[in-house]
Amino acid sequence: MDGNGRWARQRFLPRVAGHRRGVEAVREVVRACRERKIGFLTLFAFSSENWHRPADEVSYLMELFALALEDEVGKLHQHGVRFRVVGDSSRFGSRLTDLIARAEHLTRENAGLALTVAANYGGRWDMVQAINRMLVERPPTGAPISEADLAPFLALSYAPEPDLFIRTGGEQRISNFLLWQIAYTELYFTDTLWPDFDAAAFEEALVAYRRRERRFGRLEASVSQAAAG
Ligand code: IPE
Ligand code: MG
Repeated sequence: MDGNGRWARQRFLPRVAGHRRGVEAVREVVRACRERKIGFLTLFAFSSENWHRPADEVSYLMELFALALEDEVGKLHQHGVRFRVVGDSSRFGSRLTDLIARAEHLTRENAGLALTVAANYGGRWDMVQAINRMLVERPPTGAPISEADLAPFLALSYAPEPDLFIRTGGEQRISNFLLWQIAYTELYFTDTLWPDFDAAAFEEALVAYRRRERRFGRLEASVSQAAAG
């Protein structure tokens, strides 16, 4: 979700006004996913690298996250959304940690949209934490490990690999978001700034996705056979 700061600067507002407006865009995209019965939405809210921003912006983002949880979790629960946070939560304050734990617990049995917020997350962090957890739970025997051995330890092990990756704000890079999981994901980049990313912009991304031909490294004919079989 990129472009909050630029959205604010275009309006001669402080950067934090862009972040506040960004929460509205989250609300709208979550609603669009629910209406379309999309199963999984993962939002990159705060990267491991965002700590390097000025302290007042970082603390505002944390405060905004906490406020959004207080305001929205009840509604998400009513709508059957299952909410989770992935990332290294060790640096969050106790209030935020508490709110996250309560939200995850409240919504744990919901079968609607699985909404994941990646916060203090990095794709490399995820792979390293997965390896470390695997080493504890399955001490090495000398036999090589496989992709399937590692996969259950990744933070998003409960979710399928994403079909579509959307980056707003004009940059064409991954910036350490899901790395393992996007091996065959369709990538979509748009100049639209995150606060302007509304249901119509989301629809445009879905239209672009539908035009893609996904082959997963195979030839066209063998993919349709695999799909049929
Ligand atoms: C939001 O956009 C991303 C967050 C880390 C919350 P930015 O804050 O990166 O906005 P720009 O890139 O400065 O416009
Ligand atoms: Mg940015």
